[in-house]
Amino acid sequence: MRELDIAAMRAEYGGEPDMSESWLTDGWEPLLRRWLAEAATSGIAEPNAMVLATVDRTDDGPRPVSRTVLCKDLSSAGVIFYTHYDSAKGRQLADIPYASATFVWPALAHQVHLRGPVHAADDDVTAAYWRSRPRNSRLGAWASEQSRPIGSRAELDRLLSEAAARFEDVDDIPVPPRWGGYLLRPEMVEFWQGRRSRLHNRIRMRLDDSGATVAVERLQP
Ligand SMILES: Cc1cc2nc3c(=O)[nH]c(=O)nc-3n(C[C@H](O)[C@H](O)[C@H](O)COP(=O)(O)O)c2cc1C
Repeated sequence: MRELDIAAMRAEYGGEPDMSESWLTDGWEPLLRRWLAEAATSGIAEPNAMVLATVDRTDDGPRPVSRTVLCKDLSSAGVIFYTHYDSAKGRQLADIPYASATFVWPALAHQVHLRGPVHAADDDVTAAYWRSRPRNSRLGAWASEQSRPIGSRAELDRLLSEAAARFEDVDDIPVPPRWGGYLLRPEMVEFWQGRRSRLHNRIRMRLDDSGATVAVERLQP
């Protein structure tokens, strides 16, 4: 196998017109929705994946932690994702209810950061999404105590079998008590558009508690 030259890996960006402040006249949501739709139609796998960072208050001090989750809804209120409330991220959010989320679509030269407080979604929002999940995903949510250590793959498979047996005669598997949605309400959103010569466009919006835009500024790349 040829030696991997990581330092030589680079992409040249450019193509679409320069992003301008006018793209954000109606707020951040329409542009994020447009970029998500472009990612979906261009065949990118998991176009709604976003890297969610939380803060873990450890004995050595606060530490950032990040992992990927799927954005499952988007409105002017914010972005919604689903997870286990007792997972590592769930416990971190119970302690420090703030997060950042980053969407990145390098093939489209687009990146979006959102940052702000995070609240558990309303039960009816979680229930509506839960009903859309395939049966196997529902069983998986019941089987896993997310983020806890487990001894082997076989043990995990056994937990799934147990969940399948438990709900064998149940058509409408209920929402697990400690599973559900979170809404990240952005107080800051930054759109990044890759350009030639590394002179990328960055536009940052600041929002107040009601979600209204209070500032739009262009940042150096
Ligand atoms: C593409 C992708 C999508 C994912 N989507 C989710 C998701 O929507 N919810 C979730 O809980 N975990 C999701 N995961 C798994 C998380 O990245 C993570 O492993 C898990 O949530 C446990 O994180 P934690 O221990 O920090 O709480 C996804 C992973 C990948 C790679």
